[in-house]
Parts: sequence; C-alpha cells; structure tokens
Amino acid sequence: MAGITNVAFRRLCREQGAGLYVCEMVTTRALVERNPKTLRMVAFDPAERPRSLQIYGVDPDTVRAAVRMIVDENLADHVDMNFGCPVPKVTRKGGGAALPWRRRLFARIVAAAVEAARPAGVPVTVKMRLGIDTDHLTYVEAGRIAQDAGAVAVALHARTAAQRYSGTADWDAISALKQALDVPVLGNGDIWEASDALRMVAETGCDGVVIGRGCLGRPWLFADLAAAFAGRPDRLLPPLREVARVMRRHAELLVEWYGDERDGCTDFRKHVAWYLKGFRAGSELRRALAMVSSLSELDDLLGKLDGDEPYPIETLGQPRGRTNSPGRVALPEGWLADRDADAVPAGAELDDSGG
Ligand SMILES: Cc1cc2nc3c(=O)[nH]c(=O)nc-3n(C[C@H](O)[C@H](O)[C@H](O)COP(=O)(O)O)c2cc1C
Repeated sequence: MAGITNVAFRRLCREQGAGLYVCEMVTTRALVERNPKTLRMVAFDPAERPRSLQIYGVDPDTVRAAVRMIVDENLADHVDMNFGCPVPKVTRKGGGAALPWRRRLFARIVAAAVEAARPAGVPVTVKMRLGIDTDHLTYVEAGRIAQDAGAVAVALHARTAAQRYSGTADWDAISALKQALDVPVLGNGDIWEASDALRMVAETGCDGVVIGRGCLGRPWLFADLAAAFAGRPDRLLPPLREVARVMRRHAELLVEWYGDERDGCTDFRKHVAWYLKGFRAGSELRRALAMVSSLSELDDLLGKLDGDEPYPIETLGQPRGRTNSPGRVALPEGWLADRDADAVPAGAELDDSGG
C-alpha cells in the first residue's frame, strides 16, 4: 500500500507472522530514470526475503527496461504488477484500472515484464480489479491474458474502478476467476479479520489472500492469519498497553528507516487514528499523538493512555482506512470504443497511487 508499506511497516508486520509483504508501488518510469525517491522506496531490510516489489507501468518498453534493471541489479525476488489504481487523474489518461480494457496493450505490458524477469527466474504476478464498472468487466479475460503472458499468479481486488474503495468486494468474482484460471488466484477485498480470510478461501476456492486496509493500525492481523491458516484458534485482542507497545515499535522503526527522528515521527502520525480506533483515548491525547515529533514525546503521550483498557471488540470486522464513495470513472475520449487499440497512453504515469 502506497504511503504505508515501507521498510519499517513491513518489518513490523514480519515480526508478527508469516506472509509475503509487498513494497510500496513504484512507477517503471521513475525506476528506469533512477529517481532517488523511487530508488529509496525499493529498498529492503537485509533480513527481508522474499523481496517483493510492485511496479506500475503503461509502456511495454519502459516496463521491460525496469524489470531488466530489477533483475540485473538484483533489486527484488518477486515482481508484482499493479493494474488496480482508480485515481481519476490516472484513469483519465488510460492508466491504472482503465488499462486492462485495452487488452492487447495489457498483454504486451505483462509479457514485457515476464520476458525480462524470466532469465533470472524472478516470478511476475498481476494485481487487478474487476474492471472499469459493472458494464465493463475485464477480470476473467485479463486474468487469462496475464496467465498466457506468463504471470505465475493473479490477485483480484474484487471491486470495479468505479467502486473505488466503497461498498463490498464481490467475492463471487474471485470464485469465477479461480474457475477460469490454472495459475493460483489470490483474493482481495474486505478481509478485516483472520476469519474473513478463512471464509474467502472456503467460499471462493482462492489459493491465497491479499490484505489491504485490514492491517492499518493492526499489524498483529498477520499473527492471527498465520494462526488461522495453521488451524489454530488463537486470536490477538491486545489491550491498549500492548497496542501502545506496537505503536512505539512502529515509530522507532520509522525513525530508523528515515534516519531522522522528526521525519520518522511525522510519518508515524498518519497511523495514530488507526491504532486507536475504538479505544476511549481522549480527543486531546489523540490530537497530541497525531502531531508527535520525537520518540520521547511519543513515550510521554503513550504513558498517559490507560494500558488496562481492553481491545474494543466492537471494531472487529469493521472497515478501516479509506472508504470513499463510488464515482464515474474518468477515461480518455473513445477509450471504451476500441478494446484492441494498443497505443501507449501518454501521461498516465502515476505520482499518486492505490489499487
Ligand atoms: C492507502 C492505500 C494505498 C494503496 N496502495 C496500493 C498500491 O500501491 N498497490 C496496490 O496494489 N494496491 C494498493 N491499495 C489497494 C489495496 O492493496 C487493496 O487492494 C484494497 O484496499 C482492497 O483490499 P481491502 O478491501 O482489504 O482493503 C491501496 C489501498 C489503500 C487504502
């Protein structure tokens, strides 16, 4: 998740349990241009294996060059391709979740990545949405195209681009995709608890699950998932004292990652409301925590929380993070009329992101 899954957050999650943790998405153009910020975003902790890197690109040549660079410079062990971004300024140019509609271009982009990754044995996976909207669904065809192009697994965020992050994900579509493909299908959308993950696998037959917003302010969800998939019933319901400990750890990892206390604490601020969701912690304390700029200040503030407060179980199963409303998908003129045009969309590179 862009803006979230940096080295620090991935390490915090890895400390909780099993899983494959994907880095923040980077654009292939920024990568080949060696944009310093982008190069920093594709950094991994020395202990992090596999190193999983997500790319976004709209031009097969740039994608090929980027994956060649990843392979030649040994930057990652796995490449995931993001075709799920619903941001209007991206889809308006034909990028993100609009792209699979142009099936020939989509095929060329995936094939370019696979061809560049193959000599090094680096697996390529594809993540996508259901389609542009309910009248323009692409996922089954796009899944087959990705499979034929050599993607080793396909992840489906079971919402359309028009839904953005609203409403509920259509898990039936995950079943349909599973039935249509031979490669593993990973289901994504509305996994808030480990029990949701088990239910998704049971109901759809998917081969694995992708966690999005469910881990915001709850990295221990991965411990629950590891337990659930190992058949164990234990689930973590940390009291506020334990949540505060995880918050401190998160902030300290961010400070270490940024190499600057203030920058690390500033990044940490956006996580505060997610960690405290449902707890009684007063509004003044929350506000102060969301403006924290040093670890000692954080310690003082965390010390004011009531450590004995039990986990707010009423928040279990509830959406977290972004839940924006649906909207019409902005597309380039004539985009829907010609599915087989394969001109590269100009200006569809991202500087915002999401999936
Ligand atoms: C803040 C934010 C950033 C995201 N960034 C990315 C991204 O960079 N790449 C991606 O594939 N998906 C991204 N997503 C989408 C999630 O990975 C996931 O597909 C989506 O939230 C649906 O799953 P959920 O309902 O479990 O949250 C992002 C979502 C959010 C909320």
